[in-house]
Amino acid sequence: MAAKNETAVVNRLEPAEHATLALNEAAIDASRRNLAQGAMTPHYGPWKKDVIQLLNDSLATELVCVLRYKRHHFTAQGLASPKIAEEFLVHANEESGHADRLARRIVQLGGEPDFSPDSLSQRSHAAYDDSPDLKAMIKANLVAERVAIETYSQIISLIGDKDSTTRRLLEDILSDEQEHAEELKGWLASD
Ligand SMILES: [Fe+2]
Ligand SMILES: [Fe+2]
Repeated sequence: MAAKNETAVVNRLEPAEHATLALNEAAIDASRRNLAQGAMTPHYGPWKKDVIQLLNDSLATELVCVLRYKRHHFTAQGLASPKIAEEFLVHANEESGHADRLARRIVQLGGEPDFSPDSLSQRSHAAYDDSPDLKAMIKANLVAERVAIETYSQIISLIGDKDSTTRRLLEDILSDEQEHAEELKGWLASD
């Protein structure tokens, strides 16, 4: 098996097998026109609609997360841990920042960010929650963060090298969600 792989590598290195690395001049020429498309040039490829859809679903998820954390921030005020209530507000503001960045990228891709409140909870990957006690709040937030982590990880894999700007944005957001999940796990354990 190893020998077979070695042969394949050797074959790829032979000059006759080299593909020509040449720019697509027609696409470069097309990028001099179609100025209304802004940052979108011919190289972007046919998956723009799908990427915008994935980003809009993520936008809905972030907006629902803002609402859930805000609800928890205000209703946890009188409960055991004021520090955790304050942290819920910090998370709410960070999710709001994620939503803004996603909306900005959707517009840059030529799409329309969907802020419609009527369909928000159906489009969101994560759920809203109005649990009355602190431990249930922490648990609901941890579930939502884990759903966000799984979703962003899958979208990043799907995008691959198709759109490096969107991928970097999502990787950035993903690392915030991972921090959120770790914090929540800690609070759940110390309760
Ligand atoms: Fe987020
Ligand atoms: Fe988060």
